[in-house]
Amino acid sequence: MTPEPIPFLSFSPQHNAIRQEALEALARVYDKNWFILGDALKAFEDAYAAFCGTSRCVGVGNGYDALVVALKICGIGKGDEIIVPANTYVATWHAAAQTGAILRPVEPNPVTFNIDPQQIEQHITSKTKAILPVHLYGQACNMTAIMALARKYNLMVVEDNAQAHGATWAGQRTGSFGHANATSFYPTKNLGALGDGGAVTTSDETKAALARQFRNYGFESKHVCAEKGINSRLDELQAAVLSVKLKYLTQWNEERRGLAESYLEKLRGVGDLMLPATSAEANHVYHLFVIRTARRDKLKEALAKEGIETMVHYPIPPHLQQAYAEYGFKKGDFPLTERVADTVLSLPLWPGMRDEQVARTSEVIRNFFVN
Ligand SMILES: Cc1ncc(COP(=O)(O)O)c(C=O)c1O
Repeated sequence: MTPEPIPFLSFSPQHNAIRQEALEALARVYDKNWFILGDALKAFEDAYAAFCGTSRCVGVGNGYDALVVALKICGIGKGDEIIVPANTYVATWHAAAQTGAILRPVEPNPVTFNIDPQQIEQHITSKTKAILPVHLYGQACNMTAIMALARKYNLMVVEDNAQAHGATWAGQRTGSFGHANATSFYPTKNLGALGDGGAVTTSDETKAALARQFRNYGFESKHVCAEKGINSRLDELQAAVLSVKLKYLTQWNEERRGLAESYLEKLRGVGDLMLPATSAEANHVYHLFVIRTARRDKLKEALAKEGIETMVHYPIPPHLQQAYAEYGFKKGDFPLTERVADTVLSLPLWPGMRDEQVARTSEVIRNFFVN
């Protein structure tokens, strides 16, 4: 009998468990007939700010817009320089570039894959205005070091927390360190909407007010437009369902962690595998469980043959994308980032995944390295 295929992720266990509650929340919006900038958004914004440990949250249309708004309210614009991770999803770079600023990429720490704080300082110039750390795969960057650099050079910090809802650094939640922070509620994220969604979190009331204005065409009051804002609002239906899901996020993150620990235990010492490493300070929420091996493509193929779906986050680093041709970057400019892109493989992991699915995936991997 062929074993049951293992998808990369499944929404079913999460969504089945909260089906009634989510549908009731959606029905309340449906019956109220108020779909944009209403009570459901306000309730979610308050709850998500409290979760992150900030005083304010401003819901926007997606994670990209959240980054654009966060950078805007921090005063970043044309001619400024932003320190960005070389190793990130291209959306981070796109949002930073959209401000008109120049991007200064920095290589990752070889163990965490996150931006290496020790290499940031050498890229700071008189034009540097901000650092944009990304908590990649669900693991917090070293925020102690990053905030210290920001204080030393008087820089803004905007966290990209799209992949790390609920993660902590030294006991503090990500999305609460920077002057303004961005997140995405893309469906596959640890806290995912039923469509697009995002938010800016900050404890600066003035910045929050600016974000609220900027996401809604720049209106400071009805019919009075202070600036050329954008239209990017988290809608009531998404906010309502996100409020329900937020109540389960900690439990779902615990499940992710349990599954990750099971993978770690089963895969330790296998072949040339490099497994995700955590530290005492970083509480990983395993948005993705990412391993590294020099035989990545062959391993991916072997898993696919057994019906096990994997993904690569991300095969082409931003600096080698055509979109950034203007910088003249070439292969070899960010060797560690390029090595990560060539060797990473994300294994199946989702809340509700069964331990025997982790066991079978691990067994196929172990057998691959034996042969
Ligand atoms: C690190 C990171 N930044 C930004 C984004 C952009 O978010 P969105 O797809 O909601 O625009 C994503 C997710 O897609 C992401 O993973």
